[in-house]
Amino acid sequence: MVKILSNNILSVEDLHVVFKTYLGTVHALNGVYLEVGRGEAVGLVGETGCGKSTLGLSIVRLLDESAEIVRGKIFFNNESILEKSTDEMREIRMKYISLIFQDPTAALNPVYRVGDQIVEALQMSKGLKKVEAIEESAKILSMLGIPESKKVMEQYPHELSGGMRQRVMIAIALSKNPLLLIADEPTSNLDVTIQAQILELISELRRNTRMSLLLITHDMGIVAQVCEKVAVMYAGQVIEFGPVRAVFKNPIHPYTRGLLKVANLIGEKSRLESIQGTIPDLRHLPPGCLFSSRCPHSFSKCVQIRPYSILVDNHRSVACWLVEDKVRYCL
Ligand SMILES: Nc1ncnc2c1ncn2[C@@H]1O[C@H](COP(=O)(O)OP(=O)(O)OP(=O)(O)O)[C@@H](O)[C@H]1O
Ligand SMILES: [Mg+2]
Repeated sequence: MVKILSNNILSVEDLHVVFKTYLGTVHALNGVYLEVGRGEAVGLVGETGCGKSTLGLSIVRLLDESAEIVRGKIFFNNESILEKSTDEMREIRMKYISLIFQDPTAALNPVYRVGDQIVEALQMSKGLKKVEAIEESAKILSMLGIPESKKVMEQYPHELSGGMRQRVMIAIALSKNPLLLIADEPTSNLDVTIQAQILELISELRRNTRMSLLLITHDMGIVAQVCEKVAVMYAGQVIEFGPVRAVFKNPIHPYTRGLLKVANLIGEKSRLESIQGTIPDLRHLPPGCLFSSRCPHSFSKCVQIRPYSILVDNHRSVACWLVEDKVRYCL
């Protein structure tokens, strides 16, 4: 039988991930569905603790030892990530998927000068000679707003400030010229000017190389600026997914509506801070909709049965019984 190749660079299907802790089993991902098209940028948003980093780390198989992928599928470039060997995964991370970690210290090798780490990435991805790679590294660091970049290249990670380390990690990730960049809060510790430079650099790379992007952020303004699609996560599920414009203009899930209300004005820097209530205890999940205890529109079915994603039109999906039952509601 002929295998029909999907046009997605990444697709995640029904992904369930738990962490085994001494306080119990934390159900961090509870059936995630997500797609990133080739050359597409998808923003992943949601409150703290909703599973964004866990999803990013699952895709590159760099989860903690305490984590277990219980169920689900991850396809990258039409190949099943969960069936790859450790060596194959290492190669995928080296050549095809770059991850900018939320914590830059975890990503840098403490015993190598930062310059060597960028040079190595460039030599591998672009086949440059060492001298060329050194020049190119200095250029990338300058573009990321690092003055005296050659001096910085001589330093070890522990000699740099947090903001510098973050930019070095971004430089390594971009140097690999990946098919997919997963960027977990890439600019959160940096000032606004540098942040704008970095986002511009990422956008430029996308224009030049058709790199796909999964951008994890709290900042709805950045999503509006950089991404074509947005996935809204809540308690380990993507509860709304679709084109940024459509979702921001007409959010359907009550949680998305709440988020956008908190974010206030789309396009302005804003953090997702205060929707009333908190996410459920991920060790003891209720049977119904995970947002039902905070939802102003919740009805009996919501507390009994977990909603699945429903296709609203060809491009949008929402996991909410209000949509299925066509109940009219407004916040
Ligand atoms: N190594 C771990 N061990 C145990 N629990 C973990 C671990 N990593 C994450 N968790 C738990 O999994 C859930 C999801 O965490 P995750 O870090 O993915 O959220 P997040 O959306 O990235 O949050 P933030 O916006 O704060 O970065 C949380 O309840 C968190 O406490
Ligand atoms: Mg995180």
